[in-house]
Amino acid sequence: MNLEELNDIANRMVAHGQGILAADESTGTIKKRFDSIKLESTADSRRDWREMLFRTQPAMNECISGVILYDETIRQKAADGTPLAELIAASGAVPGIKVDTGAKDLAGAPGEKITEGLDGLRERLNEYHSIGARFAKWRAVIDIGRGGDDSIPSPYCIDVNMHALARYAALCQEAGIVPIVEPEVLMDGDHSIERCYEVTEYGLKALYRELYAQGVQLEGTILKPNMVIPGKKCPEQASVEEVADMTVQCLANCVPAAVPGIAFLSGGQSDLEATAHLNAMNAAYDLPWPLTFSYGRALQAAPLKAWGGKDVEAGQKAFNHRARMNGLAAKGEWTEALENAG
Ligand code: 13P
Repeated sequence: MNLEELNDIANRMVAHGQGILAADESTGTIKKRFDSIKLESTADSRRDWREMLFRTQPAMNECISGVILYDETIRQKAADGTPLAELIAASGAVPGIKVDTGAKDLAGAPGEKITEGLDGLRERLNEYHSIGARFAKWRAVIDIGRGGDDSIPSPYCIDVNMHALARYAALCQEAGIVPIVEPEVLMDGDHSIERCYEVTEYGLKALYRELYAQGVQLEGTILKPNMVIPGKKCPEQASVEEVADMTVQCLANCVPAAVPGIAFLSGGQSDLEATAHLNAMNAAYDLPWPLTFSYGRALQAAPLKAWGGKDVEAGQKAFNHRARMNGLAAKGEWTEALENAG
């Protein structure tokens, strides 16, 4: 492992005012997204959609530091024959790859999940490196029990998921790939913001214990956490400031300063919420790590609707806008006036 190289890549992924585009939807998930615009999901339509995003300027040059791809996409070529990973690298962004194979039911723990994908991972990482990937992503999924059921998540679920994240991260570093470690506490359900804080804190403490135990060098990692936020069905929703304050407090208590950067998932927040929350944290706090975005839905929902399967100009305009707004939020310089100026 060359830690200096890993650290350089990680720093590029969280460069000031830039963030990551998560375009790594599995074939099943992208089909659901395309259903919303009544577009058939085929290898070509998925390629056209992603090529349109990766060719968007100035968004790609100015606001996007990295792109997370799915296995199919990293092997695809643009309509003119250029490999999509090369298109991304040409814009100055780092190509990355999702390497987990999804969250499956956890044996002996009804309602809980374990992320799979460790079998053969060393070989897959070496291959991905040879076709241009310089970082990877693995997402652990932590649900919170409904109606005050505090048996979920169980310590068992947290332990096995964090153990798997650390095994993945160690293999990535061995292959010269920066691991994004993503322990996502879901915002589905009716839990309070305090309960989200508690579960997120418990999960992050366990994660950093496992990374340490398995020899993962934090300088060559990126953390992709959820924000601390009430469940979507919680009757008491939180203000932007509350989410920002509690998220920062939680991270400050759990994440070592050696971590090069933190890039949030959007997790089902609206586009505007995801931008406003990130902005509020960066505007109010001076932290040991850059805080930026690694959004899927919050970057792609508006362009997908505008594109509608055919209108490239409208799709790129919408992507430029969301990328610019989130780039500003990563600097704490976003305002509603800029948002509404289009
Ligand atoms: P969302 O921003 O849509 O949550 O997706 C980010 C991601 O990569 C989840 O793994």
